[in-house]
Amino acid sequence: MTRHPAKNPRLDQRGDNPETELIGMNLSRTRILVPAAWLALAGCILSALYILSPEKMTPADLRSYDASIEKGRYIATISNCASCHTAGDDKAYAGGLEFQTPFGALYSTNITMDRETGIGGWSFEDFYQSMKQGIRPDGSHLYPAFPYTAFAKMSDEDIASLFLFMQTIEPVYSPARSNHLEFPYKLRELLPFWKALFHDTATYEADAAKSALWNRGAYLVEGPAHCGACHTPRNILGAERKDLALTGGVYLDRVRTGQFREWSAVNLTPAPTGLAVWSKDEISAYLKTGQTRHAVVHGPMNEVIMNSTRFMTDADVLAIATYLKDIPPNEESDVGEPSSEQLAAGEIVYTVHCGSCHLPTGAGDNILGVSLIGSAIVQAPNPSSLINVILYGPHLPEPPFVADRTRMKMLGKRLSDDDIASVATYIRSSFGNHASAVSPAQVKRQR
Ligand code: HEC
Ligand code: HEC
Ligand code: HEC
Repeated sequence: MTRHPAKNPRLDQRGDNPETELIGMNLSRTRILVPAAWLALAGCILSALYILSPEKMTPADLRSYDASIEKGRYIATISNCASCHTAGDDKAYAGGLEFQTPFGALYSTNITMDRETGIGGWSFEDFYQSMKQGIRPDGSHLYPAFPYTAFAKMSDEDIASLFLFMQTIEPVYSPARSNHLEFPYKLRELLPFWKALFHDTATYEADAAKSALWNRGAYLVEGPAHCGACHTPRNILGAERKDLALTGGVYLDRVRTGQFREWSAVNLTPAPTGLAVWSKDEISAYLKTGQTRHAVVHGPMNEVIMNSTRFMTDADVLAIATYLKDIPPNEESDVGEPSSEQLAAGEIVYTVHCGSCHLPTGAGDNILGVSLIGSAIVQAPNPSSLINVILYGPHLPEPPFVADRTRMKMLGKRLSDDDIASVATYIRSSFGNHASAVSPAQVKRQR
């Protein structure tokens, strides 16, 4: 994907590179299973709809909150509203960005104050219901590609500030693009059923046994910053799996060729395949600068850092780090031991093509290449991001906001699918790492 230099750094690199952090699975079997699941449920749905039609939630009077435009601007930033709702530099918040999902393509909508094509006519109640319940003023239901499943956890106070800030957004005339979702997903009428199963409208409640910093971190991760939207695996109906919260998800975004391909977002729990080797300071530094000795931002996380986390206060990134280091380690069980032939082949590829920068020990040297020891990217159950970085090199913003240094090259043209599968398998089983083998077919899918 091409990165464009940004005029406005908060809205840069949008154009051809949407942040598609929604329905995080792309398994072909879901194409078969999901319609079957829907059809089996279809009978109950019509009658259930009658019962399920959610009661609209109403906030208190806007003036009763301790809200301000300034607070709202910060909440919009940490929630990264702009990334998903901006398709061109000159059209901030005007929507039209494409999201590819296993269920088809859909587009974000115009959330500027334009009365005709945006949300200019919305009252505070209307806005509140969209954030808490995913409901439009006309009663129609919004897709959870809009992460209201996380935003619902925001405090009413924060939603009020956000509303005040939204009022300051210049109106842009920009009619919605029509979605291309497959049947039955195109039916918004089915969404109340999905919500009844998977959407919890409750505001985040502080855990009294934990510190204020921990609770702030939990609030940010689960609420406004919606880290789980990408980092939590999804079930076949596209809902986040609570039992595997933050253990690493998969979703579709563009790679350098402009095609949509899978990306894996890493395990954020302190498991050995997650952030075990990261200190709190390193997590904070990564969110602020995109760089640590364990990782340099190289994929869709670019947008999250560029447009959102680097503007967080030091206290807020530390709160996130505190929370992430304190949740119980958890990981998706990962099977498939590598063969000794594949490991031997992989070691040769590594020595020839990788070892000069990442060193024979995998430790990198901070100038030439990052450490692959305990790397979350290397060990993700789904190896798609690892394959992408080998095939296409890192997708850094232009100009790079990480310090100028040696960069990883694109190796996709030089190495065959077999070579890449072998070297990926090798580094997933070396330097103390432990993750399943990678097949040439998995590499081919990412080309
Ligand atoms: C992960 C991408 C993503 C993020 C982040 C995001 N949105 Fe959206 N939003 C969408 C999509 C996609 C839709 C369209 C959903 C649909 O058509 O059902 C949408 C729809 C909406 C709507 C409904 C508008 C309408 O036309 O009915 C509102 C309001 C909204 N978003 C506000 C926000 C605000 C405020 C934020 C930040 C707090 C935000 N969004 C963050 C993707 C996102
Ligand atoms: C020219 C030096 C160089 C070579 C050769 C090289 N890398 Fe890298 N690699 C880097 C640098 C530098 C980074 C950090 C991203 C950046 O700044 O470009 C990186 C990043 C990575 C990452 C991502 C780690 C993360 O979480 O950020 C992986 C995985 C990786 N390299 C694996 C490999 C493999 C496998 C090979 C051989 C097929 C290889 N590299 C060859 C320099 C190199
Ligand atoms: C748009 C989807 C998305 C969102 C939202 C998101 N991430 Fe990520 N994250 C990724 C992907 C994909 C990667 C893999 C590396 C990359 O893209 O550079 C990643 C990597 C990471 C890494 C590890 C880097 C490495 O290479 O090992 C950390 C730490 C991280 N994310 C933290 C967070 C936190 C904390 C949040 C919430 C504030 C968050 N992410 C929100 C997609 C996302």
